[in-house]
Amino acid sequence: MTDTLPATLAEMAVAVLTTADGRAKTALSHRCAAAWRAAREDGATPIPVGQAAPPLRPARPDRPDLLDPRDVPRRRPGSEQGRIALLHAVAHIELNAVDLHWDIVARFTHVPMPPGFYDDWVKAADEESKHFNLMCDCLEAAGSHYGALPAHAGMWRAAEDTAEDIFGRLAVVPMVLEARGLDVTPGMIEVFRKAGADQAVAALQTIYAEEVGHVAYGSKWFHYLCGRHDTDPKPFFHELVRKYFHGALKPPFNDEKRAEAGLPLDFYWPLAEERGG
Ligand SMILES: [Fe+2]
Ligand SMILES: [Fe+2]
Repeated sequence: MTDTLPATLAEMAVAVLTTADGRAKTALSHRCAAAWRAAREDGATPIPVGQAAPPLRPARPDRPDLLDPRDVPRRRPGSEQGRIALLHAVAHIELNAVDLHWDIVARFTHVPMPPGFYDDWVKAADEESKHFNLMCDCLEAAGSHYGALPAHAGMWRAAEDTAEDIFGRLAVVPMVLEARGLDVTPGMIEVFRKAGADQAVAALQTIYAEEVGHVAYGSKWFHYLCGRHDTDPKPFFHELVRKYFHGALKPPFNDEKRAEAGLPLDFYWPLAEERGG
């Protein structure tokens, strides 16, 4: 890694996306986010958004091995090994999330957006970088590390499927996938609380609090773009999720946190899988 950061935000995003090692990627992500934030606060020396060509897939470390989700071994969360597997899975999600947020920054620069759009995704990317490191710290405290276990291969599919469609990207990534995080994180916190794993509980509480913001950014900019195109957001959201998201949305939903993030009930309940025939 060079000491000098690229001159534009889009090039910074590509620099992060093309860095393979997780700790190095997140360190660079944090430096870029800090530079963008400082320039925005200062106002006198703005960093242009610019243009750059993000890779179709981000660089990844040699480990973990990436497997089809069906081939990733399942472990009982009641065991120490099961809890390590859970932390490892979250670390993998967070690393992908870092890249997803930098990807939306670089991928859609042909769509004119206000600076606040970039502020939001840069902040989200910086938070994901912190989340990845929190998970790595927990894994290392438990004698493991990111890369020690296999991880899901399919996590970048949503980005590839929506590489040409900013509406689809906003609908599927923050408003479906990250919203799913709001549903499942309280149960995870409970697993670690019962095990007396204070470090993991604190880390997951930080993640839970900050993920609400990421879902909210998705909803905010989706609605913003719908307004620009005089499009009714709800039926359009349903159409995009059916087009780009493979599989039904799974209740139970965290309706309260989803509401806090600007996701109304009638956005996601009509897409929920049918239960009991
Ligand atoms: Fe996160
Ligand atoms: Fe997130």
